[in-house]
Amino acid sequence: MAEVLIVEGGEAAGRLVSDHIVGLVQIRPDMVLGVATGSTPLPVYRELARRHSRGVDFSRAWAFALDEYVGLPEGHPQSYRAVIDREVTVPLGFDRSHVNVPDGGDGDIETTGERYEAALHAHGGVDLQLLGIGTTGHIGFNEPGSSFASLTRVKTLTEQTRADNARFFDSLEDVPIHCVTQGLGTILRARHLVLLAFGEAKATAVAAAVEGPVTASVPGSAIQLHPHVTVVVDGAAASRLEHADYYRWARDHKPAWQGL
Ligand code: PGA
Repeated sequence: MAEVLIVEGGEAAGRLVSDHIVGLVQIRPDMVLGVATGSTPLPVYRELARRHSRGVDFSRAWAFALDEYVGLPEGHPQSYRAVIDREVTVPLGFDRSHVNVPDGGDGDIETTGERYEAALHAHGGVDLQLLGIGTTGHIGFNEPGSSFASLTRVKTLTEQTRADNARFFDSLEDVPIHCVTQGLGTILRARHLVLLAFGEAKATAVAAAVEGPVTASVPGSAIQLHPHVTVVVDGAAASRLEHADYYRWARDHKPAWQGL
């Protein structure tokens, strides 16, 4: 099962996960980092940017984003290519040519998934995949009903996800209806999954993903099928976990040699 670490908040999570990522990139400078968008991973990016300003080098590392909206004009500030550029590529000092985001442009949209899978394959897959979770239980943009075997493809966003993401746009109507997202099968190929969630609004989705039945109705529950998962949550996001006391106990007794 997943290791569940209940931390004080975003900053503590940012330090914990950054320590681990910095360790990886120091051992293997050309590591492949799977990056997520949304508010959740921002404390990790902020901390990694701080480490970069103190000399940690990401210039040989590679990044692959989970997903992208379909049909936003090139350069749109809320396209995930632009978000990743702002939050990751520039502050962490990645080489722009090493940063991959699914192509959500209208041309060749039928083959965009296949092309992304080929690029992932060519780079040997993702070493560590950062994940948020949506209130619908989605990871990436795999909405309820997504196949556990799915690969990168075009999906239709739920109305709930569009409403959740409307805060980034001028209005709900501006939120795209379609996206390209790594599939659950793609995500499960990453060597280590690190799922982050903060706040009460995520508590139900976290409990369903971590402890609920494995079901396509809760795409995040796919993490239960992966051999190496770390779930990092604050107390509010952990508040519906039935075994929270056990997770805290296990953390307090974590062997010193055992990293993330
Ligand atoms: P959030 O989104 O980090 O902005 O809450 C998470 C997600 O939708 O996966």
